[in-house]
Amino acid sequence: MHLILITVLLMSAHHSFGQSATVWLNEKGPSPLISKNIYGHFAEHLGRCIYEGLYVGDSNQIIPNTAGVRNDVLAALKKLKVPVLRWPGGCFADTYHWKDGVGPKNNRPATVNNWWGGVTETNAFGTHDFLNMCENIGADPYLAANVGSGTVQELSQWVEYVNGNGNSAMVSWRKSNGREKPWQVKFFGVGNETWGCGGHMTPEYYSNLYKQYATFMADWSNSHHLFRVASGANADDYHWTEVMMRDIPKDLIEGVSLHYYAVIDWKEKGPAASFSRAQYFATMKQAFRMEELVTKHEAVMDRYDPHKKIALVVDEWGGWYDAEPGTNPFFLFQQSTMRDALLAGITLNIFNNHCSRVRMANLAQMVNVLQAVILTNQEKIILTPTYHVMEMYNVHQDARQIPVKLNNVFYAEGSDSLPAISASASKDSLGATHISLVNIDPGKSHLIRVYWQGAELKLDSGRILHSPRIQDHNSFDEPEKIKPQSFSGADMKNGTLEVDMPPASVVLLTLHG
Ligand code: AHR
Repeated sequence: MHLILITVLLMSAHHSFGQSATVWLNEKGPSPLISKNIYGHFAEHLGRCIYEGLYVGDSNQIIPNTAGVRNDVLAALKKLKVPVLRWPGGCFADTYHWKDGVGPKNNRPATVNNWWGGVTETNAFGTHDFLNMCENIGADPYLAANVGSGTVQELSQWVEYVNGNGNSAMVSWRKSNGREKPWQVKFFGVGNETWGCGGHMTPEYYSNLYKQYATFMADWSNSHHLFRVASGANADDYHWTEVMMRDIPKDLIEGVSLHYYAVIDWKEKGPAASFSRAQYFATMKQAFRMEELVTKHEAVMDRYDPHKKIALVVDEWGGWYDAEPGTNPFFLFQQSTMRDALLAGITLNIFNNHCSRVRMANLAQMVNVLQAVILTNQEKIILTPTYHVMEMYNVHQDARQIPVKLNNVFYAEGSDSLPAISASASKDSLGATHISLVNIDPGKSHLIRVYWQGAELKLDSGRILHSPRIQDHNSFDEPEKIKPQSFSGADMKNGTLEVDMPPASVVLLTLHG
């Protein structure tokens, strides 16, 4: 048995008893892998995510591109190790007819993007563009299928078009459009938010519809191993999950989704960058709520699927604030600050700690929309603090989880308080141990003591993301204001690892035996 103990000592007058918090990283017995797909992304035809953000067209002479996709963005996404990418929506998915987006670009029909500002959708970026881009960056595609306004036949033909090998009209059409080999797409979402923009359905009605779609997109035994994700709950709608688990036969479903945004108040979301301390606290509180949601949805799923065959797929998560002043409010363009980096750090720790059930998650969204990892402005590009957290944490991808038990210390704001520290850990295939720590307290450093029993561990390296103010962010004038630095605040003392975590920081430590 291998046991790691982290003690967090609060260095503040506020908790003046020398209180300490303790985290047990309890490596006993075989633990599950942290699926790399927890580090997934989401790109929707919304605002400037696809057009301008990812795709500028292959005739663009100013912004270097590969088949129309920006080279700077491609390079950043490769470095991030994006494991899986969901497309084309979101709400847009249930208005999207894939046949509009294949074939010669000048023959593609223009449509209207009804959900996101009524702008013209040229369909210039379609199935081939998306799947080839995924191939280029080494990500698995995750296609979100249209249930709300599509048909069972339309989806089964999409599956055949992208995956078929036989002699059929769909396969011939794909080949005549320039793609000989199938892409072998594994992940399919069957509708999006079917309780809302996907059709305002009841769970009972949707689960029947789901069964019909899921049946005809595969064969008798799903011999091509499609991973079909049922459109799942909005936040704490546990009844929705219950109905999916109860009514859908287990051989027709591989995942059920959950959507949750850390929003302060849907009517008053607050500014993305110039927020107050109270708004910061409120966002962190909402971010921590993911723990409760995942735990409770998991408990429902456990009742129907004790062996955890079906994955919980959190295919939309992130912070959502008011759109930047002066931008189209339907385009959901927001700055991304240190607050978002901390939000990402907390959330990814929660997913790592629940990896036996959470086996995919997709941050909303990839470029220029909501909690984006990349922002673009013409030929300029910013990697946001959230990008850097995702990049630091990618060491956990497909590593074996080390379970965490945490006795925390608290960050108080007014009469309310939150746990100050969040943690998760894993051991990778080469035997390195990675510990990710977040201190959300914007006003205080915390000393963290790391103990372990068993084999001796040595500190290899540390990285930190930190900036003096929680409102700090990268800008087009100062794109590298915030980026990971090497961390010298961790030290091995008499077999104990002491970590001095600055306020509002994310730290990644790597140790080896
Ligand atoms: O991510 C933005 C929108 O949020 C998505 O289109 C929708 O699924 C969700 O409500």
